Amino acid sequence: MTRVLLLGGTTEASRMAAALARDGVEAVFSYAGRTAAPVAQPLPVRVGGFGGAEGLAAWLQAEGISHVIDATHPFAAQMSRNAVAACAATGTALIALERRPWAAGPGDDWTHVADLDAAAAALPDEPERVFLAIGRQHLAAFAAKPQHHYLLRLVDPPEGALPLPDAEAVISRGPFGYDDDLELLRSRRITRLVTKNAGGEGARAKLDAARTLGLPVIVVDRPALPPRESVETVAEVLAWLHAERGV
Ligand SMILES: NC(=O)c1ccc[n+]([C@@H]2O[C@H](COP(=O)([O-])OP(=O)(O)OC[C@H]3O[C@@H](n4cnc5c(N)ncnc54)[C@H](OP(=O)(O)O)[C@@H]3O)[C@@H](O)[C@H]2O)c1
Repeated sequence: MTRVLLLGGTTEASRMAAALARDGVEAVFSYAGRTAAPVAQPLPVRVGGFGGAEGLAAWLQAEGISHVIDATHPFAAQMSRNAVAACAATGTALIALERRPWAAGPGDDWTHVADLDAAAAALPDEPERVFLAIGRQHLAAFAAKPQHHYLLRLVDPPEGALPLPDAEAVISRGPFGYDDDLELLRSRRITRLVTKNAGGEGARAKLDAARTLGLPVIVVDRPALPPRESVETVAEVLAWLHAERGV
């Protein structure tokens, strides 16, 4: 019997959930529980960690899961590593729905770095106005450069003080559009952008807006993951699932 675990937390995961529901596939959607009001899904939803790779393996067996679709964010590396390990340990089929990374084009001024500490180190010493488009979890890395003004874009209002002395938080949930992002960069007089290489469409507008304004961008490259089967579209995941089911 087919029973799918869909690891979510992205726009692509929500699209995947809609397709599974439409096709009548039995599936459970999983959120980490990072945001106060996660997007509603047309599937049964569970929230919270599994307890590492071992906890996930036990959960897969207890729930009779036959297939795992990892549609987490490309920087949710721990969850993706756990999924590879737990699926290998339990013999569960695994596929990743992974967005293609962004690539610089003509007119882009990108500096690639390996992680967020390197992104902070790559910021100049002279004070600037930086759009720090990295979410909320790893802001502390930028406490090493307190001379900059930071613009943050967060899903939920911050609880407690931010680790950055000079920061403005805009509360907004993607997907984001070009006109709005251009206006945001202009109105805040942003001089530099820092972003993870998330890929996909929902968050790329800020890069197009930065190109229009000739702004330099620091791009954090994706973390390395163990080998796994990976596709870029919902349709490819469905084809994989139906082939696996023999229908
Ligand atoms: N990292 C980003 O930049 C980013 C951006 C947008 C959205 N997100 C979404 O936010 C969530 C957390 O991301 P993260 O970077 O904190 O992940 P992470 O560092 O890879 O995961 C840390 C732990 O959180 C739990 N977890 C993560 N995703 C989960 C899921 N979908 N369902 C159940 N448990 C989950 C797991 O706990 P256990 O070990 O206890 O199982 C995992 O080991 C993910 O759903 C991701 O898609 C992340």
